Amino acid sequence: MFRTRITELLGIEHPIISAPMAGIATANLVAAVSAAGGFGLIGGTTPGGADWLREQIRAVRERTDRPFGVGFISSFPGLDELVAVALEEKVAAISHSFADPTTYIPAAHAAGVKVLVQVQTVAQAVVAVNAGADAIAAQGTEAGGHTGYSGTMAIVPTVVDVAKGVPVIAAGGIADGRGLAAALMLGAEGAWIGTRFVASVEAVRPQWQKDRIVEASADDTVVTRAYDLAANAAFPDYIIDRVLRNDFTDVWAGRDADVAARRDELGPEVARATQENNQAIAPVRAGNASGMVHAVEPAGDILRRIVREAELILRERVKAVLRSED
Ligand SMILES: Cc1cc2nc3c(=O)[nH]c(=O)nc-3n(C[C@H](O)[C@H](O)[C@H](O)COP(=O)(O)O)c2cc1C
Repeated sequence: MFRTRITELLGIEHPIISAPMAGIATANLVAAVSAAGGFGLIGGTTPGGADWLREQIRAVRERTDRPFGVGFISSFPGLDELVAVALEEKVAAISHSFADPTTYIPAAHAAGVKVLVQVQTVAQAVVAVNAGADAIAAQGTEAGGHTGYSGTMAIVPTVVDVAKGVPVIAAGGIADGRGLAAALMLGAEGAWIGTRFVASVEAVRPQWQKDRIVEASADDTVVTRAYDLAANAAFPDYIIDRVLRNDFTDVWAGRDADVAARRDELGPEVARATQENNQAIAPVRAGNASGMVHAVEPAGDILRRIVREAELILRERVKAVLRSED
């Protein structure tokens, strides 16, 4: 059993948070993670808007009385209305990613809701700490989906160093007990996991996308802005998007100006491909940790195995690598 400042802060058993993946982390996944003793975050930024979000929050509560939260893509339009729903419903925590969270923190605290902030740089972490964030998720570039440029191994301890005691959560590249154990050794108080939970029974994804993650190795991802430029998605310029390679990325990754110029054609093409499950073109957002995913499994089983493995590693590995004094 672990006890860290994140388990204490969120009132959970295990230091694992499932990422707020839009359209993927709905009530089913969140309830499964929270019921297993982790902390599930609903991906709150979806076309369903405020009504959908309220339904999802209530659906989690029907399945578990354990704490959970809602995470936002805070650079997207419509944020205020979504945050208002989460605060009215008094979820345990909200998370902000991809925008400065400062103006949202006082109202959340007034409602008794904790604020987790996901950052890609040390400078963003300083802003979040000064604004009163309750915890910082330091996201390394290994992460699936939208991410930054620093690796997890460096961003986590450097964020810990500026966090003034605010607990840090490691995100990016963690899919098994080795990753959780390493994150704790880097000074993080928990792990924030996306890709591994996409390949869960409860995640909302077409089966072929889950299967592609199972089949993929750590070598099979690429970072690109092509999908965001084609869709005109409201992510900041400094954010890149890690996806599994396919024919579309082979043609368009790294050709930002060309994609932007042909948005009218490529935007509808990608939307249609997604609708029709065209594997050559539709995006599969997933990180390098795909190489550690070998089966689609129930989220609770995934979580419990990660915790079990991490405990074993932390007990045994130290004995194996530290030379005794005598
Ligand atoms: C399919 C997918 C969708 C994601 N969507 C979001 C999102 O909507 N909001 C967000 O804050 N982060 C999102 N992320 C990033 C996660 O919050 C997290 O940083 C990442 O998954 C951690 O790295 P990992 O994928 O290696 O576990 C997404 C990640 C994936 C894999």
